[in-house]
Amino acid sequence: MTTASGTTADIPAARARFTGRTALVSGAGSGIGRAVALALAAEGAQVVVAGRRREPLEETVALIEERGGTALAAPADVSRAADAEALVAAAVDRFGSLDVAVNNAGIFRGGTLADLSEEDWHSQLAVNVTGVFLALQAQVRRMRTQPSGGAIVNVSSNFGLHTASPGAAAYAATKAAVTALSRGAALDHIRDGVRINVVSPGATATGMSLRPGESEADRTERARATLPLGRISATEEVAAAILYLASDEAASLVGTDLVIDSGASL
Ligand SMILES: NC(=O)c1ccc[n+]([C@@H]2O[C@H](COP(=O)([O-])OP(=O)(O)OC[C@H]3O[C@@H](n4cnc5c(N)ncnc54)[C@H](OP(=O)(O)O)[C@@H]3O)[C@@H](O)[C@H]2O)c1
Repeated sequence: MTTASGTTADIPAARARFTGRTALVSGAGSGIGRAVALALAAEGAQVVVAGRRREPLEETVALIEERGGTALAAPADVSRAADAEALVAAAVDRFGSLDVAVNNAGIFRGGTLADLSEEDWHSQLAVNVTGVFLALQAQVRRMRTQPSGGAIVNVSSNFGLHTASPGAAAYAATKAAVTALSRGAALDHIRDGVRINVVSPGATATGMSLRPGESEADRTERARATLPLGRISATEEVAAAILYLASDEAASLVGTDLVIDSGASL
């Protein structure tokens, strides 16, 4: 049940769509990535959880193990090609395959265009765009060798192609690139047995959707006043959409950009 503020939700794991499959989730030490890792593990996947800081990854692993699941913490910087390859190798070495990948790691650096630093431009490009590019390359190269192929879901944003917000031009450009990369890669590799889709969340209950100086209560009020649904998404709701795209239920979805944004971009 979703709370009134939309900050948490229990999506029942009534099924086990990922039993025996190995999944890799980046940015899994917090927010959407952690919710995805927990949901995949709850449905039977063994999950490699990646991010730069080890401690939050270990927390995610502990949460999964408490619930009887299996996970491996794999610290990595997704903007580095060697790390992208090492994550795939970790999944294969430990669990024998890489069946699902969720490229979720991302950063937001706000600021009006004329005032954004060049460093903030380059850092967002490095993580949000180069990170997804390198991940796709390493993951597809492995998945296309497997008889069962694989499924990849990239995490974009509704700011990319669906709506706009002040102070987010550079971030939006990186997310438009994530969607374009996903669609192009989907076309390139569907005949290799690798199915690639993308989600475009709107404001979701993590620190990233808080404006500077804004409290969670302020955000709840802003969402009530401005979003058609009247609330932001829970991380579990975004995770549920990602799991659907990664599952066999979505076997005929190729290069789909699924918007999950409380109606913001209508
Ligand atoms: N929250 C929203 O409202 C919203 C809306 C639309 C889209 N999104 C997208 O959803 C994704 C997840 O965001 P979130 O809201 O869950 O925020 P979050 O809690 O800040 O999660 C981002 C994660 O990415 C990891 N990360 C950042 N840079 C990395 C790097 N170079 N290498 C590896 N991992 C890295 C971070 O861990 P470390 O710092 O330890 O590396 C962190 O766990 C992002 O792609 C974001 O753009 C979020």
